[in-house]
Amino acid sequence: MTVRALRKDIYSVGAIDWDRRLFDELIPLPDGTTYNAYLIQGSEKTALIDTVDPTKEKELIENLRKLNIKTIDYIIPNHTEQDHSGTIPKILEIYPNATVVTNTKCKGMCIDHLLISEKKFTEISNGDTLSLGNKTLEFIIAPWVHWPETMLTCAREDKILFSCDLFGSHLATSDLYTIDEHHVYRCAKRYYAEIMMPFRNNIKKHMEKLKDYEIDFIAPSHGPVHNKPKFILNAYRDWISDNVKNEVLLPYVSMHGSVEKMVRYFVNALIERNITVKPFNLPRTDIGELAMALVDAATIVIATPTVLVGPHPAAVYATYLTNALRPKTRFISIIGSYGWGGKMPETIQSMIGNLKAEILLPVIAKGYPKGNDFKSLDRLADDILSKHKEINITS
Ligand code: FEO
Repeated sequence: MTVRALRKDIYSVGAIDWDRRLFDELIPLPDGTTYNAYLIQGSEKTALIDTVDPTKEKELIENLRKLNIKTIDYIIPNHTEQDHSGTIPKILEIYPNATVVTNTKCKGMCIDHLLISEKKFTEISNGDTLSLGNKTLEFIIAPWVHWPETMLTCAREDKILFSCDLFGSHLATSDLYTIDEHHVYRCAKRYYAEIMMPFRNNIKKHMEKLKDYEIDFIAPSHGPVHNKPKFILNAYRDWISDNVKNEVLLPYVSMHGSVEKMVRYFVNALIERNITVKPFNLPRTDIGELAMALVDAATIVIATPTVLVGPHPAAVYATYLTNALRPKTRFISIIGSYGWGGKMPETIQSMIGNLKAEILLPVIAKGYPKGNDFKSLDRLADDILSKHKEINITS
């Protein structure tokens, strides 16, 4: 990414990663990503907010050279994860007089993960300010927007919130700002689902604090800068709310067709009851799409055959992820089949302790589904409709 100015003397100096397709060896990146870093030149001091993933360090250094930056006084990591802080050691080599300014927890984690010397740091606390001369930075400690050490930095005079992972999106784009709102919305929702959703309640508290700030730009460290902050703030308000939609998320796997037959029947049963249903065939599913669907669905029904007395490993993976992502799902159930026995439903139920969801009576067929199994699937669809009516989400 080349250098672009956000405001006078405030530049985007990070990198676009067009080709990256996996993050943390876990999260698919169908649209690539960016690692945004921002350089702020005050009348007296110069600060660099966040850096880039070490794979892109040359681009950051080149951008600083293009701006003819001879001195960096402060490097400000909002978050220790290496996609933002991994290039700090290299920047310290080039600008040895720079001080790393961050909170106590982030300092400790930078020492642990990046092996930065303790003497390079200045610690700040929530609400502290740092003067760059004609520009003032204010620090807002905001734990758990992704890790426990995260913070936000506000450029007061320019009304820019540098939010690191929060409000970000994995989207490689040449647009500095959010231009294509529809596309950015989808990427930001995917990002929220994969990274932020487990911390929904923390985000609620942080967003309350942000009401006290006048913000013209939200500049995250992934994806485009939000030049209309209301767009992303309103999206987040919806995602972090307790509201769920009249939707059933149906992750499934089938080996010999029994579960697939049940899923096909059940999908139609839900459609007939005017319930939106989103089936995901797990061996072919992008887990990011599954995570996005978890943001809104009132109900999850996991469908799996029995393998070696338990759920199919693909269903175990999806259940584990669902439990880890802590969606606001209100109801959960299981459908599936078995050949000769096992504890498939019990195993799945033991894996969803994080979910504050009511468990609806599962439907388990012996072998290929038959008449009574289809009646039971109708009963489960009726139960779901009745529960959705109770919470007033049906039309
Ligand atoms: Fe983009 Fe939590 O790092």
